[in-house]
Amino acid sequence: MFANFEIPPSLIPSDPRFGCGPSLVPTEFLESLAKTGHHFMGTSHRKPGVKNVVKEIQDGLMKYFNVPSDYLVVMGNGGATLLFDMIALGIVEKKATHFTCGEFSEKWFKSSKAVPWIETDQVSVPFGKGLNGKAFPGSDLIAVTLNETSTGVQLSALPVVDENTILAVDATSGGGQCPCDVSKTDIYFFSPQKVFASDGGLWVAIMSPKALARAKKIAADKSRYVPDIMNWTNAISNSEQNQTYNTPALATLFIMNEQVKRMNLLGYSEVMKQAQNKADLLYSWAEKKPYLSAFIEEKEFRSVAVATIDVDPKVNVDDVIKFLEKKKVVYGIDGYRKLGRNQFRISLFHNITHGDLQKLTELLSLMIESKL
Ligand SMILES: Cc1ncc(COP(=O)(O)O)c(C=O)c1O
Repeated sequence: MFANFEIPPSLIPSDPRFGCGPSLVPTEFLESLAKTGHHFMGTSHRKPGVKNVVKEIQDGLMKYFNVPSDYLVVMGNGGATLLFDMIALGIVEKKATHFTCGEFSEKWFKSSKAVPWIETDQVSVPFGKGLNGKAFPGSDLIAVTLNETSTGVQLSALPVVDENTILAVDATSGGGQCPCDVSKTDIYFFSPQKVFASDGGLWVAIMSPKALARAKKIAADKSRYVPDIMNWTNAISNSEQNQTYNTPALATLFIMNEQVKRMNLLGYSEVMKQAQNKADLLYSWAEKKPYLSAFIEEKEFRSVAVATIDVDPKVNVDDVIKFLEKKKVVYGIDGYRKLGRNQFRISLFHNITHGDLQKLTELLSLMIESKL
């Protein structure tokens, strides 16, 4: 369809990666990793060379999110998906209520529902709508998703819970970039291949004293069988020693640490401001162009991490995407496959620059307008 389309060199982004995860890993980080030579990759995660990197990540996240010193950054292998199960197995006492608005929040709900010894409720809105969640009578854990990666919906406020209830927030794709006071949450968890620009496979959970106490209390209940790899006391005691229970991917840790340092140089408020500016660019583009519309109609729920933009069916986005991928100019802007919409889903993660998003929007407009 675009065989004869000439891409203006001035509209080629400096980096083609606009995907929502795995996301853009700065090449400088890979160069820094290569420079560690014999002294990092291939060394033991139980020795200072790696433990110091884990400690830097933990301290860096405590600083970035400005959480009280009695919170703990707990880490392990398996990604956020493993935490879906770990939370249901080892944090929920009797009942969890899940607020769902898309593919990932539903997946989390389904994981909880599969655990036979807890009760699980779901409060849902259709995909494309947002909801914030609230405390629920009888529920000792409230589960919300900070940024629903499948649809581009973010929370506009956190539920408030009492001292006996755990507020668990899946911050996988919004963590670090979508506004959230982590000190008002009990388990704020994510995988690092999104805003934290690393590779997948790791999970990070910032846990309040209340959540740590709940994990220990439930672990003491020997009637629950929880596999060792999913056992919270193993994860917590290893994290207290700047380690993970089993062997982690060292490159993932190294690169994540580089990103945490980079984000701390700017600070939380500046990162939030940059994210909002990029979101304003994308959503105002969608509003200005008659052939585009923001998928999320309720402005308060529009994500500043993942923008979903519907396109007039006269132009098939798959043709645009395939052409740009073939030219190696733009990767990863397809909509979430199960939504089945004629849609671009564009990551606004921290390392994706405003300048590149400007070029991307102009390039996409030029391509679409050439067919209308
Ligand atoms: C909101 C959300 N939660 C959970 C996950 C699962 O993360 P992982 O694949 O690292 O387990 C994802 C992955 O994209 C996500 O976007």
